[in-house]
Amino acid sequence: MDEAIERAAEILVNQHYVVCLTGAGMSVESGIRPFRGPGGIWTEHGQPPLDDYRRFVRDPVAYWKNLLEPSGIYRELYQALEQAQPHRGHDALAALERCGVVRYIITQNIDDLHRKSGSVHVSEIHGNYSLCRCISCGTRFKRMDVDVSLLPPRCPVCSGLVKSDVVIFGEPIPEDSGRECVEQVECADCMLLVGTSACVYPAAGFPKQVVESGGMLIEIGPHPTEITDLCQLVLRGTAAKTLPLLADAVHARIANGKQK
Ligand code: APR
Repeated sequence: MDEAIERAAEILVNQHYVVCLTGAGMSVESGIRPFRGPGGIWTEHGQPPLDDYRRFVRDPVAYWKNLLEPSGIYRELYQALEQAQPHRGHDALAALERCGVVRYIITQNIDDLHRKSGSVHVSEIHGNYSLCRCISCGTRFKRMDVDVSLLPPRCPVCSGLVKSDVVIFGEPIPEDSGRECVEQVECADCMLLVGTSACVYPAAGFPKQVVESGGMLIEIGPHPTEITDLCQLVLRGTAAKTLPLLADAVHARIANGKQK
C-alpha cells in the first residue's frame, strides 16, 4: 500500500484540479451504515421504490409525518446522523483542501461531516439532513427553523411546498448544487473517489466524464466498484485509515518541493 500511497500523492500534487467525490463509505467509520455492499442498508432491506418524490408531491402530509417520526431503518439512520462526528479521513480531506491539492468535494452524503471537519468547497448533491428546501424557489432553511405546527410547511418566500433538503428517489437534483457539480467536474483533471459504489446517477457519471476529458481517477475503498476498472490507481483501504496516510505523503512531497 505504501507504494500506491506514494504514487497517489505524486498524482495529486502534479495534477492541476483535483475534485473529490465521496459516498456513504466515507462515513462508515463515523458510525453511518453504507447503502450497498457488506452491512449496507439497501443490502439488508432492499432499495426503496424509485417514486418516493412522486408520492411526496401527491401526499406531502404523509411524507412529513414519516419525516418527523421516522420508523425502522430510517429511525436508525437519523439517529446515526445525529450522533456522527467527522473522523480522521474527513480531517485529512480538509487538510488537502487547505494546502490547495483538493479544490472541491462533491459528496453524495447528507451528514454534513465534510463541513463539520472544516472543508469549505463542498457540494452536497443529495442534500443535507439538517436543512429543508422549498421545491418551488429552492430556498433552504435550517430544519429546526421550519414551523411544523401546520403540515405541510410552506415556504415563507414563495409559499411553495417545503421538504427535507435530502434528495429522495425520483427527485430532480436541486439546480444550484447540480450546476456547481457539473462546473467542477468540467474543471477536474483528477477525481479522487472515496467510499462510493459509483452506481447512482448523475454522480456516477462524473468519474467517467473526467476520464473522457483525459483526466485521472484514484479510488479509495475496501471493495471493487463499478468504476474500479477505469481508475489509474486503487487504494484498497478504508477512508479513515487511508486518507490520513495519503495526506501525510502529499504534505511530505510539498515540503520537499516535489511538485511541478
Ligand atoms: N471506507 C471507504 N469505503 C468504504 C468503507 C470505508 N470504511 N466501507 C464501505 N465502503 C465502500 C463500499 O465498498 C462501497 O463501494 O463505500 C461504498 C458505499 O457504496 P454505497 O453504499 O452504494 O454508497 P454511495 O455510493 O454513496 O451510494 C450513492 O445511493 O441510495 C443512494 O442516496 C444514496 O447517496 C447514496 C447513493
